[in-house]
Amino acid sequence: MATISQEERGTWNSKLGFVLAASGSAIGLGNIVFFASNAYQYGGGAFYLPYFVALFALGIPVMIVEFGLGASTRRALPQALSAVAGKRGEFVGWWSLSCALLITMYYIAILGWALGMMVGALGGLFEPGATAPFAPFLEPSAGVSSTVYFFDLIATYWPMLAVLVIWALNGMILIKGTATIEKAVRIFVPLMWLFMIGLIVLALTRDGGLDGVLYLFTPDFAGVSDPAVWKGAFAQMFFSLSLGLGTMTAYASYLPKRSDVVNNSLLVSFMNCGFEFLAGVAIFGLLFAFALNPVGGTLSLSFFVIPQGIAEFGALAKVLGFAFFFLMVVAGLTSSISLIEGPAAALRDKLGISRAAALAIVFVPGALGSLAYTLPTIVDPGLAANGTLGLSLLDMMDHWVFNYSLLTVGFLEVIFVGWVLGASKLRRAVNLHTRIPLGPWFDVVLKYVAPGLLGFVLIWSLIQEFGGGLYAAGNPLGGFDWLPVAVPLFWLIFTLGGAAYLTYGRPTPPPPSPFDTMSDDVSAL
Ligand code: PFF
Repeated sequence: MATISQEERGTWNSKLGFVLAASGSAIGLGNIVFFASNAYQYGGGAFYLPYFVALFALGIPVMIVEFGLGASTRRALPQALSAVAGKRGEFVGWWSLSCALLITMYYIAILGWALGMMVGALGGLFEPGATAPFAPFLEPSAGVSSTVYFFDLIATYWPMLAVLVIWALNGMILIKGTATIEKAVRIFVPLMWLFMIGLIVLALTRDGGLDGVLYLFTPDFAGVSDPAVWKGAFAQMFFSLSLGLGTMTAYASYLPKRSDVVNNSLLVSFMNCGFEFLAGVAIFGLLFAFALNPVGGTLSLSFFVIPQGIAEFGALAKVLGFAFFFLMVVAGLTSSISLIEGPAAALRDKLGISRAAALAIVFVPGALGSLAYTLPTIVDPGLAANGTLGLSLLDMMDHWVFNYSLLTVGFLEVIFVGWVLGASKLRRAVNLHTRIPLGPWFDVVLKYVAPGLLGFVLIWSLIQEFGGGLYAAGNPLGGFDWLPVAVPLFWLIFTLGGAAYLTYGRPTPPPPSPFDTMSDDVSAL
């Protein structure tokens, strides 16, 4: 099987290009909407301690692992893990990427809705009188109602067109690999920061806006003994930093040989968390200024609660609403390209196929999946749960993939690198080219702290899961009451079957391990 040379794989043109691409991947819907809604759900200041533990004990170390694997092996995740832990490593790599594909499908569906709302901002979103074909909304709303507008939108076929537009934009950015990705992130990432700063200024100049910031920043340690808060913080951190889904390893595999992995990991992590806090300030500012309550979860925050706050800006609402959804679309786009690049890079490394062919293998099922998540069939007219078939599917799949795949992959990565390879080998490889050398404490984090924390929350989640009955089993689902069983089964069969087929059905030799060939003077580091 033809292996692809590094020249054909591509290399970032500059350090800035890589940092922008990796931070573009990290900064996305997770920062703009999921962080604020998690922070609110887990009690504002109570979220802090778990969040910072998640950043320093898990986020940064796992990012060093994922960057280090990619930069040292110059392969995407399955091949990089195969160099470290053989076939079982490759299997976990493919499992992670199959889960990434499932997440990409609904991530892009959400972007499709955001695109629909962005267009709507210029049309009827901020005008009174919206109706939706759901029982609670049959009467036209007297004032502006973003909730009614959103449910009207997702009950039509328009979002299907919008997801195809988002997939097409992804295709245009990905077609030439690092060259086109770099061009796109050079425009989009600065734009994201600019829009976010604009949003903050607006939120904080409203009466009451500062109270929201105080709520977010006043530490409160009451929730610290609740494992749910820790689990929430860990999952948020992994998702926000784009860890556990093969993305960061694929991006780092395009780094020049002598790149500083530690420095890059710190830069990307701090930029991501900095953006996340700015987004938190803007959103909490808006919520408190307009006494809005972000109950109901992450999607309701971005699609009903924030637009409802924006509507209060009167004449400015259209422009501001357009800007908010534009920000969501741009930030999401620079994340979705990385979600697609992970599996595409791995397929190229494995099968020796062209970039266009690898992208086609990801795009066809990916776009079909996104279409499924935007199915407008109304299954729950009383809106007791999720309303449409697409939204119900999304909610169920997100529950399983989001809660279990990222943290499980992270756990297995630190076990493979910490114990099978030996943490000190990765540390030495990374220390070869860094201005911030890692001390032996890093080995302790990889071998004990990170697997201990991740193992604890994973076991705790499983116990909760099975103690509480099957997720979504009681939801009204029209004639589709079999879905709560079918969705987790599909998740397991698709991801485990796909990983088994690619690992064992198409065996390839592992790439040479760069960690075994280091000269003696390196081990002195
Ligand atoms: N980090 C992205 C966000 O915060 O929205 C989402 C994401 C992208 C997660 C890529 C995982 C990934 F591999």
